[in-house]
Amino acid sequence: MTSNKMVLGDYQFFDLKPARQDMHQEIVAGLRAQEKRIAPKYFYDEQGSALFESITELPEYYLTRTEMNVFDRYGDDIAAVIGDGTCVVEYGSGSSQKIRKLLETVHMEAYMPVDISKDHLRNNARALHRDFPGLSVYPICADFTQPFELPEIANGWNRVGFFPGSSIGNFDPADAVTFLSNIARNLGPGAQLIIGVDRKKAPEILEAAYDDSQGITAEFNLNLLKHLNDALGANFAIDEFTHEAVYNEDLGCVQMYLRSRKAQQVTLGTEIVEFARDETIHTENSYKYHLEEFQALAESAGFAVRSVWTDERNWFAVVLLEVQ
Ligand code: AVI
Repeated sequence: MTSNKMVLGDYQFFDLKPARQDMHQEIVAGLRAQEKRIAPKYFYDEQGSALFESITELPEYYLTRTEMNVFDRYGDDIAAVIGDGTCVVEYGSGSSQKIRKLLETVHMEAYMPVDISKDHLRNNARALHRDFPGLSVYPICADFTQPFELPEIANGWNRVGFFPGSSIGNFDPADAVTFLSNIARNLGPGAQLIIGVDRKKAPEILEAAYDDSQGITAEFNLNLLKHLNDALGANFAIDEFTHEAVYNEDLGCVQMYLRSRKAQQVTLGTEIVEFARDETIHTENSYKYHLEEFQALAESAGFAVRSVWTDERNWFAVVLLEVQ
């Protein structure tokens, strides 16, 4: 007699206790630099994460929608190429929304979401385990931008990394090579990586994507200052800064800035930071790649390109890499 009982997936939480960087020290160092800068990771407080979700639905922000269409269009092909017995490791899993899309077509046996934000990770991983009871879920609390080891439980699977959304674009190319080399080591030889890459296109399209008509991206950029006010007791006057997004053709990236409307002083604890009128804070680079450029970058990190899936307009690529 055969049984129809579903085999329940396993669940284990791995806390690698990632070291927290000193936010105050990092922010002050960035604001004391010759060209003021703040790392884009500080966009994502609760409000910033919600604003980013709104950005992904904007008509001008084609990235998320286009990547989802590629997964819809080529999900079966992706499933066929990556093979069976897979354990998918997602670097920076956030709300684990994109893996749900992949799960529509790709059969995976285990899912390892990696994220630094412990409670968020636990809640999203539990929800996924509830919704996909046959899937084993092994959340890993770690800083995925730093080298770390996968737990032993990841051994013996067909390991497939997942890094969607063009998040690779937020690394400068040299840092992207370091990051991808760490991922190659983390996954091991023969493993694969599915990565979302935003392709070069007309500057007007790129600039509109980062300076939308509803002003949501402006709000997202300015929210960074509010985050610093809340987290560090700073006193940025949000209205005294403006949002800017320009495509730097030489570098091949959209650059976001906050520009000071006037000469002003800002206090962060005991530190005072001076702004000249029109002085900027550089808040983000978002690199765009020709396929050949991305291939060269991936190869210098120890990967080979196995497949590329793209949309009708050739705006966004989902690339399958293999660790050499
Ligand atoms: C998260 N990252 C891939 C986004 C991007 O497109 O660079 C962040 C973003 N910044 C402004 N809009 C979206």
